[in-house]
Amino acid sequence: MEHILNPLVKSVEISGIRRFYNMVADIEGTISLTIGQPDFPTPLHIKEAAKKAIDEDYTVYTHNAGYIELREAACDYVKQKYNLSYHAENEVIVTTGASEAIDIAFRTILLPGAEVILPGPVYPGYEPIIKMAGAVPVYADTTENGFKMTAQIIQPYITEATRCIVLPYPSNPTGVTLTSKELQDIADLIRDKDIIIIADEIYSELVYEQEHVSIAGFLREQTIVLNGLSKSHSMTGWRIGFLFAPANLCQHILKVHQYNVTCASSISQMAALEALTNGFDDALPMKSEYMKRRDYVYERLQGMDLQVVKPDGAFYFFVKLPEGYHSSLEFCLELVRKTKVACVPGDAFSVLGNGYFRISYAYSMDTLKEALDRIETFLK
Ligand SMILES: Cc1ncc(COP(=O)(O)O)c(C=O)c1O
Repeated sequence: MEHILNPLVKSVEISGIRRFYNMVADIEGTISLTIGQPDFPTPLHIKEAAKKAIDEDYTVYTHNAGYIELREAACDYVKQKYNLSYHAENEVIVTTGASEAIDIAFRTILLPGAEVILPGPVYPGYEPIIKMAGAVPVYADTTENGFKMTAQIIQPYITEATRCIVLPYPSNPTGVTLTSKELQDIADLIRDKDIIIIADEIYSELVYEQEHVSIAGFLREQTIVLNGLSKSHSMTGWRIGFLFAPANLCQHILKVHQYNVTCASSISQMAALEALTNGFDDALPMKSEYMKRRDYVYERLQGMDLQVVKPDGAFYFFVKLPEGYHSSLEFCLELVRKTKVACVPGDAFSVLGNGYFRISYAYSMDTLKEALDRIETFLK
């Protein structure tokens, strides 16, 4: 019966990150630098709050948008951290991870034929959702601009059909982020056009030398901000994300969310409440550890004469293939076969990522050191 299935769904492939991970999972003794999830446990007080929530019977459906206490805490959090103002009653939705927030935002905005501008290379979680809506992903080439999608880069890609621009900064897979001025210029370009910005700010707590700035501060009425606790509080498995949008957009997005999942897990929501209140700064010690690793990995990669942009945040390096290699997949397969170090081929992050490989440094210093020693020996 496969032939009667939706061709838009059939044309979508499983993520290149997972595909490569599965390919190398059976090679014994492999050090995998492939997965982008924090290697720290969820803070103890958050786990305790979840246990308490179960004991106290927080085990039933919540408001579709999430517990009001949690929505209030989420609004306070982004107000205090990023100076964003949203109403807890009607401008925030608690989602099943940022992934669901991506899905419901696109499904609310996109009609078949609509165009979505994304920076390339980019996180592979957007393209399939865009395609399944019958819309068209349009990649703006950022490779010659230090992976930054600035107003200048965006402008030539805007057409009558453009309905949405994705701004995923700090970026997975490149780690770069945009400055306040760069965001302001994009806001000026988009203002008064029929275009909505989806700002995926899931790595906002992991920006090293500068303050995280959200484009919603310049273009609130045309921006949907996505965030969540997966990266900031090391809570990938709890599946809690947040979507912030002006009330006139949020009321429609909420319908898609409601018919999709009803509400996010009640127990995870109680854990999230603890995370955003008593764990307001839980990301800080993790961030300082990531920063030490970033500096270490950067130094090592430079020592190997590999070309790389120093990341501003998140926990990834997007490294140019060494001389003589053209295919990311071929390089990563050879690397894993000869050294038992697995990195993600760059083309998992759109065609513009071909010619690169991604290293995640959400791994211990010992693991990173061993992996980099092996890569260095291989390159020699
Ligand atoms: C840029 C980006 N957005 C969204 C997600 C998904 O986050 P979540 O685990 O909250 O669904 C990820 C996960 O790696 C990501 O890198």
